[in-house]
Amino acid sequence: MNILLLGSGGREHALAWKLAQSPKLSKLYCAPGNAGIEQLAECIDLQVTDHSGILKFCKANDISYVIIGPEGPLVDGLADELEDAGIGAFGPSAYASQLEGSKGFTKDLCAEFNIPTAAYKRFTEATSAKAFLDEMSIPVVIKADGLAAGKGVIIAETRKQAEQAIDDCFAGSFGEAGHEVVIEAFLEGEEASLFALCDGQSAMLLGTAQDHKRVGDGDTGPNTGGMGAYSPAPVMTQEMIDRTMSDIIVPTLAGMHSRGHPFKGILYAGLMLTEKGPELIEYNVRFGDPECQVLMPRLKSDLLELMLAASEGSLLEHDAQWSDDVALTVVLASKGYPGSYDKNTNIENVESAEETGAIVFHAGTAKDDDKLLATGGRVLNVTALASSVSEAQTSAYHAVDKIDWANGFCRRDIGWRAVEREKG
Ligand code: AMP
Ligand code: GLY
Repeated sequence: MNILLLGSGGREHALAWKLAQSPKLSKLYCAPGNAGIEQLAECIDLQVTDHSGILKFCKANDISYVIIGPEGPLVDGLADELEDAGIGAFGPSAYASQLEGSKGFTKDLCAEFNIPTAAYKRFTEATSAKAFLDEMSIPVVIKADGLAAGKGVIIAETRKQAEQAIDDCFAGSFGEAGHEVVIEAFLEGEEASLFALCDGQSAMLLGTAQDHKRVGDGDTGPNTGGMGAYSPAPVMTQEMIDRTMSDIIVPTLAGMHSRGHPFKGILYAGLMLTEKGPELIEYNVRFGDPECQVLMPRLKSDLLELMLAASEGSLLEHDAQWSDDVALTVVLASKGYPGSYDKNTNIENVESAEETGAIVFHAGTAKDDDKLLATGGRVLNVTALASSVSEAQTSAYHAVDKIDWANGFCRRDIGWRAVEREKG
């Protein structure tokens, strides 16, 4: 079958790499893609926001299945539009994508179906939001309701900061996303993520991971899209996984089903492992980036077959095989990221990194003749597999050090929590 993959990040390169191994695949297209994806798929000059262009392309090229990488087009209803046009889509409907697109929607679902999460309230204006602070202890968490590219969450350490955050949200700091505000209790614990493939009724565990959101070593500096990840996350013991599946994922699917909007696609649960057990911080309705780059290399089964089963509602008939190895990925970013950075700087010797056995997934890259150029903030994901996080970390950095890119940088401590645990 002909497949169109949408997106241009390291996540989509990892998906393309895995999809390209499927015997079910005839031809893979990707829009818009990047210089890494170009080696596996025909890249098309179409943006993921151009729904009508995507539909036209699918019809003209006999595409029977579209895999939607990022959340934007899902929240904007692209999966529904494709299905209305008789084209299969991997990813939830617009209604079901509210699990990521509206924090208030998810909190209400949690309240209705008894899913463990921080206490909260929703607000559409500042006066009552500020009055609610009287009932909350500090720190308190202020969230813009809608999609804010990971920036709409403020952990307020003082009442004054909380009031400022409320004013900023309603004043438009996060655009449309801030027209509604969720105020919630601060949860203490260690964060981890769990990924489940869902077919509307049942869920299949894909794995656990830990991301590194801050730009600097030791988790310092501003938040980013993610500077590195590893999978599985040792903090997610079998007990934590079982409790997350039974107390969070399963009731979410049941809740969505009972509302008449079954969830199909990836449920990415951001969790806080509190004293009481796993609690939901937030849902995303797609693979994580860079978490996907550590899930795909561990999957032995056919990804396309599993995705199709999720779309068709037949996941229970399938089983996924996973490597026992740990995967760890280090993100190389342009100096200045997550702030401003130079574009079109030269990268060399990526092949030398690959020769060590590492897999290099591209994000913001483009080719200019034979030259590889950095075109984005996050640019490469150097990924290694090994039998422990410590060994995978050593291998990944060994490969990173083969790459010559004067304008690039990376964190040097990806995996530190798990490495410390392994040291005992
Ligand atoms: P979110 O976009 O909702 O995942 O939030 C971004 C980050 O803010 C999370 O990864 C957490 O580190 C932090 N965070 C969000 N909500 C809470 C909470 N209720 N308690 C503690 N930390 C939180
Ligand atoms: N790595 C965080 C995310 O994909 O949202």
